[in-house]
Amino acid sequence: MRSQLGDLNLYRGELVRLAAMDPEQDADAFARWSHDSEYRRLLDSDPARPERAAPIKADMEKRAERGDDNGFGVHTLADDTLIGFVGLWIASWTSAEAFVGIGLGDRAYWGRGYGTDAMRLALRFAFNELNLRRVSLEAFSYNTRAIRSYEKAGFRREGTQREWARRDGRRWDVVSMGILREEWERASV
Ligand SMILES: CC(C)(COP(=O)(O)OP(=O)(O)OC[C@H]1O[C@@H](n2cnc3c(N)ncnc32)[C@H](O)[C@@H]1OP(=O)(O)O)[C@@H](O)C(=O)NCCC(=O)NCCS
Repeated sequence: MRSQLGDLNLYRGELVRLAAMDPEQDADAFARWSHDSEYRRLLDSDPARPERAAPIKADMEKRAERGDDNGFGVHTLADDTLIGFVGLWIASWTSAEAFVGIGLGDRAYWGRGYGTDAMRLALRFAFNELNLRRVSLEAFSYNTRAIRSYEKAGFRREGTQREWARRDGRRWDVVSMGILREEWERASV
């Protein structure tokens, strides 16, 4: 018998699905991606450095043990390849607000709609399952592909932290973006 909640698969989009991180299977891919310095410099402000799989695996295991981790592997629907991750970090349960981070480590998939599809799934999980009120993120102003992808997923620009980042002797702004539950609901009907 079909449940009254319907047959919506929360984790499945048009191009990708969200999967639990598998430390045994996934750590090698994350280590491989860390050797791409452009990817690392698009992702966050940590010093870009190549990493080994072992500490990544240990970190993934620690998160999995906690049981409340909202980080997912992004897999293609076409052949189930792991191409990246997306994760929500609850900034405040009382305010029902989370920060989202995303990265497609496999650059062959950039600019082909996979990241926006994964972000839409993360938002559906955030608003439908975690019942959050808003989701926030930040991007370097030079990451125009990411900003465009976030706008497509429904995020609005909310502010600019001027000259926040330094790369190769030049300073760059950080763009703050956010989406509210009702904006997401309006966009999802
Ligand atoms: C950011 C990221 C998740 C976006 O996913 P994606 O699959 O590449 O994005 P999409 O293809 O869904 O959307 C990208 C949009 O930007 C456009 N675009 C592509 N390259 C661009 C560029 N260099 N500058 C501006 N826009 C660009 C695309 O045409 C598309 O817009 P359109 O559909 O209106 O044509 C992915 O590119 C990624 O992981 N990059 C490396 C790590 C990273 O930047 N993480 C985010 C940190 S804030």
